[in-house]
Amino acid sequence: MDLTGKVAIVTGSGQGLGLAYAKALAEAGAQVVVNDVDGAAAARAVREITEAGGTAAAVVAPVGPSSTADLLVRTAVEEFGRLDILVANAGVIRDRVLWKMEDADFDLVVDTHLRGTFTTVRAAAIRLRDQAEGGRIVVVGSPAGQHGNFGQTSYAAAKAGIIAMARTWSLELARARVTVNAVIPTAITAMTATIPVYKEVAEAYQRGESLPRVVRQEHALGGPEDVAPLIVWLASDSSAEVTGQAIGVGGDKLSLYSYSEELAVTYREGGWPAEEIAEAWASTFAPSTQTSGITLPPLETDALAP
Ligand SMILES: NC(=O)c1ccc[n+]([C@@H]2O[C@H](COP(=O)([O-])OP(=O)(O)OC[C@H]3O[C@@H](n4cnc5c(N)ncnc54)[C@H](O)[C@@H]3O)[C@@H](O)[C@H]2O)c1
Repeated sequence: MDLTGKVAIVTGSGQGLGLAYAKALAEAGAQVVVNDVDGAAAARAVREITEAGGTAAAVVAPVGPSSTADLLVRTAVEEFGRLDILVANAGVIRDRVLWKMEDADFDLVVDTHLRGTFTTVRAAAIRLRDQAEGGRIVVVGSPAGQHGNFGQTSYAAAKAGIIAMARTWSLELARARVTVNAVIPTAITAMTATIPVYKEVAEAYQRGESLPRVVRQEHALGGPEDVAPLIVWLASDSSAEVTGQAIGVGGDKLSLYSYSEELAVTYREGGWPAEEIAEAWASTFAPSTQTSGITLPPLETDALAP
């Protein structure tokens, strides 16, 4: 997967998954614009990429506002002459159950994920259409956005919206040969280490221990380095035919999410009075009732004790 001569922007790449993406893209030959709100983390990322023989520049600014999106694209063009790849990865969580969620927390999460993805992809799309040489856009969803998740009103909404935008943009940018795909990652990072059930798994990972099969396969949890190769492939010429997809990756698991589809359908001439709906529900739809939430097998962490 040779990305020599390509220029990439990765938002939120000071740590965690974004850092792994930036490093992997640089290792494959791309010149990378690193971005984060944390200036020290962004500077460290540039240093680590450069020391490994890669090329990178940093933009320290919060994604969300259009001004940051414009600055990111301007930096790619001024520093490296062009733009080929955008990975819209930056994210935050402010988990609270609905009745305790405050407006400011909701707005921060939606502004960072949903608006941040919109503004950065829009700025990148304008540049890529002008260049007229195609391009690659990767956005980032979450299992929470696919299934709903207790305590994640804002995050699930933003992540579900990102998938809807990606499917829309794959249509709008097809003629410009710009592919748009969503990655649905799972990995041990600062974000997941705060989830109580994963505390021991995260500690074992930090100690450099290999993780049990149930963690790497059923829970699809490994390190950011397990997710990064999918980003490299989606950024490469090898994935030119792939667009509008939502692809899950984490630990040992790689998966393809379905489009939302009708699971059961019935027709009634003249429409549907409430009583008829109740009857149709029982006879036709009840067997297809959908569950909400992320379902995972129980996590045996005995093996992880130090
Ligand atoms: N870790 C997982 O299992 C997982 C699962 C599903 C989705 N994701 C998504 O993957 C992405 C990366 O998550 P992570 O686990 O690496 O988290 P992380 O918290 O380790 O890293 C996120 C990075 O984004 C930066 N950031 C936050 N707000 C920003 C802003 N407005 N502008 C620029 N940078 C900003 C942070 O400073 C941090 O460096 C996020 O979009 C997250 O929602 C992660």
